[in-house]
Amino acid sequence: MEYHLTLNWPDFLARYWQKRPVVLKRGFANFIDPISPDELAGLAMENEVDSRLVSHLDGDWQVSHGPFESYDHLGESNWSLLVQAVDHWHEPSSALMRPFRALPDWRIDDLMISFSVPGGGVGPHVDQYDVFIIQGTGRRRWRVGEKTALKQHCPHPDLLQVQPFDAIIDEEMEPGDILYIPPGFPHEGYALENSLNYSVGFRSPNSRELISGFADYILQRDLGNQHYSDPDVPARDHPADLLPQEVDRLRDMMLGLIQQPEHFQQWLGEFISQSRHELDVAPPEPPYQPDEIYDALQQGDMLQRLGGLRVIRIGDDFFVNGEKVDSPHQHALDAMAGSIMLESQHFGEALDDPSFLVMLTALVNSGYWFFAE
Ligand code: SIN
Ligand code: CO
Repeated sequence: MEYHLTLNWPDFLARYWQKRPVVLKRGFANFIDPISPDELAGLAMENEVDSRLVSHLDGDWQVSHGPFESYDHLGESNWSLLVQAVDHWHEPSSALMRPFRALPDWRIDDLMISFSVPGGGVGPHVDQYDVFIIQGTGRRRWRVGEKTALKQHCPHPDLLQVQPFDAIIDEEMEPGDILYIPPGFPHEGYALENSLNYSVGFRSPNSRELISGFADYILQRDLGNQHYSDPDVPARDHPADLLPQEVDRLRDMMLGLIQQPEHFQQWLGEFISQSRHELDVAPPEPPYQPDEIYDALQQGDMLQRLGGLRVIRIGDDFFVNGEKVDSPHQHALDAMAGSIMLESQHFGEALDDPSFLVMLTALVNSGYWFFAE
């Protein structure tokens, strides 16, 4: 199923992206859910899938984490089942991410899906990430407040909420409506009917993650072995002093590592192309031989990208799930980065180069691309 957004992207980006929350009424016309509540509940029973149940009664909040064995204990109101990264586990749901590729792939994170019964929600809270919340089946009332400093509290150790806020958006969302919320705006959604909600979430690293990720890279590659040296050690009044020029030199040693363009780009590509959620990799058994891949593509079979797999291009460098992929066939790599479904035309003459075919075979045998049914 292909989803089409009725959205004026240039207008949206100029007026709302990272600036203001907005309801996009009927963002998806004639919306059809890619998943059923039963299928979602089934996914939350799987070990690999990250899920939680949030319920409340008279201001008392409960949170439990999947995998769940049964849902028999749940009543008919005031609970919500939330499942992370469903685009990794349920192929039809991953189609809901594609219309958002007007925004860069590296900024997109995952698709969280929630099922809520009347009264169900996670309470008023603030997220650090942009999100598009799509209303599927059912109706849910969403309130969004102004971005101001609000006191946070934990009504349950696993639940961070904010104090009540005045609404700048207060809307009953219907199937196909989309609520966009930039980071920092408090919001809460309460289901009016049994509801499915789809959250297309974004990621934006903070400097702590960047520094720590870069430090991992330095350690793995055994870089930064150069020691501080001072043949011109300056005199000082007191032996305990570390002088400002020494502070500068030490800082420059650190910045020097970050400022090596090749290493920085290699690290960034590896770092940013890694998914934050587990991938549903199923390497084919037995593995393909290159000529089998060649024949299948020539016969018209299509290769499909695994849901949640990140393929990122920086300059001429391509990164797939944390690894750089090298090939002189830039056109073929462009197609692999741009298209979710690939057919022989996408690869062009690259398919006649045995080294390209070996590389493609390795990616298919890793489970990153698979032949579409
Ligand atoms: C949801 O309940 O579907 C979304 C939760 C959120 O606002 O982050
Ligand atoms: Co939220």
